[in-house]
Amino acid sequence: MTAAAAPTLAADLDGGLRRLKLGAMRRLAPELMVTAKTQRWSPEEFLRTLLDAEITSRDASNARARMKAAAFPVIKTIEEFDQAVSSIPKATFDYLASLEWIAAKENYCAVGPAGTGKSHSLVAFGVAAVEAGHKVRYFTAADLVETLYRGLADNSVGRVIETILRADLIIVDEVGFAPLDDTGAQLLFRFVAAAYEQRALAIGSHWPFDQWGRFLPEHTTAVSLLDRLLHHSIVVITEGESFRMRQARNRTGGRLTKN
Ligand SMILES: Nc1ncnc2c1ncn2[C@@H]1O[C@H](COP(=O)(O)OP(=O)(O)OP(=O)(O)O)[C@@H](O)[C@H]1O
Ligand SMILES: [Mg+2]
Repeated sequence: MTAAAAPTLAADLDGGLRRLKLGAMRRLAPELMVTAKTQRWSPEEFLRTLLDAEITSRDASNARARMKAAAFPVIKTIEEFDQAVSSIPKATFDYLASLEWIAAKENYCAVGPAGTGKSHSLVAFGVAAVEAGHKVRYFTAADLVETLYRGLADNSVGRVIETILRADLIIVDEVGFAPLDDTGAQLLFRFVAAAYEQRALAIGSHWPFDQWGRFLPEHTTAVSLLDRLLHHSIVVITEGESFRMRQARNRTGGRLTKN
């Protein structure tokens, strides 16, 4: 006995669905036509099933494209974030996890020492935002300033900023790792000013705000930048022992140095 031939779609239907880029419908239609016939689906039910499949597949491929465009350095999730060892208050964490601040064009600033979950939280909320349908873009401050610097050469800084601000949430991590020169500081200010009340920013930095003068050479620029950044902002001070150190110690049974 030979197996029944796999159902195929008439060439004109196949061609039409291909032309309209309805890939999921095209893939599913042959099989579904058989199922619809044997199970006596109503025409409406058949159409709905096909349409749902196409929408689901589009949503998934858009989410994949947004995830790629976000350029996260690693993928971290809210579920992986252990709130018990974090100094982020629960109510604040829940508000951040609700992502309402992104629609409200508020900022999230995480400030604290190494290994205390700044980047993890920035990326985790970013990933959740992508999954919720937002456009997100991750930068380190150094990458952002370098990108803006490149715009100076051909006078396109305004356009570069506009392009970056197409995202709903822009993450700027590692602010203050490297000092900025006057031009770099001006460019960062221009960016923050353009985003102010237009887009949500998420910022990670080692430096408490009163120390931002260390990497922003011009005092008035630092003040004006912070004024805008902090006006509508959820500020979190991440404290405690470095998560990396904690893990290293657990691996070595409590010792961190050879003896
Ligand atoms: N509360 C937490 N729950 C689970 N993992 C955590 C938590 N905090 C930190 N980690 C993990 O510890 C490591 C360091 O955290 P993270 O990269 O967020 O630190 P950071 O504050 O950005 O440090 P740095 O200032 O050095 O960049 C990561 O692997 C992160 O996933
Ligand atoms: Mg970090």
